[in-house]
Amino acid sequence: MSQFTALKGLVSLVTGGASGLGRATVERFSKLGSRVILCDLPSSEGQQVASKLDNCVYLPANITSEDEVKEMLKTVLKDYNSLNVLVNCAGIGVARKTYNIHKNLPHPLEEFERVLQVNVMGTFNVVRQAAVLMAQNQPNEDNARGVVINTSSVAAFDGQMGQVAYSASKAAIAGMTLPLARDLGEFGIRVCTICPGVFDTPLLAALPKKAIDALTNSVVFPKRLGNPDEFAQMCQTIVENPYLNGETIRLDGALRMV
Ligand SMILES: NC(=O)c1ccc[n+]([C@@H]2O[C@H](COP(=O)([O-])OP(=O)(O)OC[C@H]3O[C@@H](n4cnc5c(N)ncnc54)[C@H](O)[C@@H]3O)[C@@H](O)[C@H]2O)c1
Repeated sequence: MSQFTALKGLVSLVTGGASGLGRATVERFSKLGSRVILCDLPSSEGQQVASKLDNCVYLPANITSEDEVKEMLKTVLKDYNSLNVLVNCAGIGVARKTYNIHKNLPHPLEEFERVLQVNVMGTFNVVRQAAVLMAQNQPNEDNARGVVINTSSVAAFDGQMGQVAYSASKAAIAGMTLPLARDLGEFGIRVCTICPGVFDTPLLAALPKKAIDALTNSVVFPKRLGNPDEFAQMCQTIVENPYLNGETIRLDGALRMV
């Protein structure tokens, strides 16, 4: 069996791994025998999550920091000697309209910048530094060295009112997919992006019940929120299918937000 047709034994790094979609990915990958590095903010529950799993360690880092990501990857290289899979789940959202007529205020620029900073710059920061490690791997018989999976959102295409910053950031992540795949293909690194619909995670639980019910109702089938493990299953599929590359995949039960 070639190096990337099974997760067993691979070294996987999951950002945002302490919660929601990232946590489900960490859990599934650990069960499948991958050696997992859970990266999340120092304030997260990363340590508690990692300590319950086999072959999982928590390395705190803010993905927007060049130095923190560099240090974290230095530890990965020292302790594991390689990195095969990167799943970028760390991300934030904000609900704010471009213009608030009641307060006569435009969208604060710093809030827009913060969402772009974490979701776009943070994701890219980890990819570009992880690529340095992956490019050093011994290639398998298919010349493959690594897999990168980024997390966008259906909001990249069907952004709703109040999602201008979030949608812009998620569209940027989708837009990076092909150029990243082209840049990194020569090193045997594949890059895919997942666009989740509405998944049952702490990020979504922060919404009022009425909003969650409305979102659930707009899913075609199955008419329910996505289970975070279904996201993790898609990550597994991307790792295991060596011909998936440069693709942005909606995972949304045919949800189209209007
Ligand atoms: N839940 C959904 O329905 C849904 C839908 C579409 C897209 N997404 C995307 O999926 C990703 C995961 O979402 P989730 O629902 O699991 O959210 P979540 O809030 O449960 O988890 C996000 C994790 O990212 C971490 N994080 C945030 N900023 C960070 C930073 N600067 N450095 C390191 N870690 C950081 C948080 O601490 C948290 O543990 C996000 O990018 C989100 O936009 C989620």
